[in-house]
Amino acid sequence: MKEAQIIELPKILDPRGNLSFFESNNQIPFEIKRTYWIYDVPGGEIRGGHAFKEQNEFIVVLSGSLDVAVFDGSEEKKYSLNRSYYGLYIPNGLWRRMENFATNTLALVVSSTSYDEKDYIRDKDEFIKLKSKENDSI
Ligand code: TYD
Repeated sequence: MKEAQIIELPKILDPRGNLSFFESNNQIPFEIKRTYWIYDVPGGEIRGGHAFKEQNEFIVVLSGSLDVAVFDGSEEKKYSLNRSYYGLYIPNGLWRRMENFATNTLALVVSSTSYDEKDYIRDKDEFIKLKSKENDSI
C-alpha cells in the first residue's frame, strides 16, 4: 500500500534569511507538471476532500499551518504542516483532506499531472469501494 510521507527539504541557513528548495525527481519523487497554491482560506474551511487516480502531489505550507488527513481506505493518518522546509508527499490512490488552516496560511502544491477533472475521485463511498476491490485482488 502506498503511503504519504513527510519530506524534509534542504535548508540553507543564512543571516540574510534562510532558503529552501526542491526539484523534480530529486527531493521529491516525481516530475512536476503543475503548481497551484491555496490561500485566503476562511476559518473552519476544509479543502481537497478527494483522491486522485493518477496524480502524485507534494504540499508545502510556505506560511502558516494546516493539517492534512490522509485515508487509505481503512486507516486515516494526520500530518501537521507548519514549517516551510517540510512537505507532504501524497502518492495517488489516497483520500486527502486539508483542514485546520491558520489565518493567512499559504499552501503550495506541486502535481505530477496537468489538471484533469477525470483524475478525481470525489465520492468517498466510491473511493472506499475501489480500495476494497484493490485489496480483494491482491
Ligand atoms: P479542487 O482541486 O477541486 O479543490 P478542492 O478539492 O479543495 O475543492 O479545485 C477547485 C476548482 O479549481 C476545480 O473545480 C477546478 C479548479 N482547478 C483548476 O482549474 N486547476 C487546478 O490545477 C486545480 C487544482 C483546480
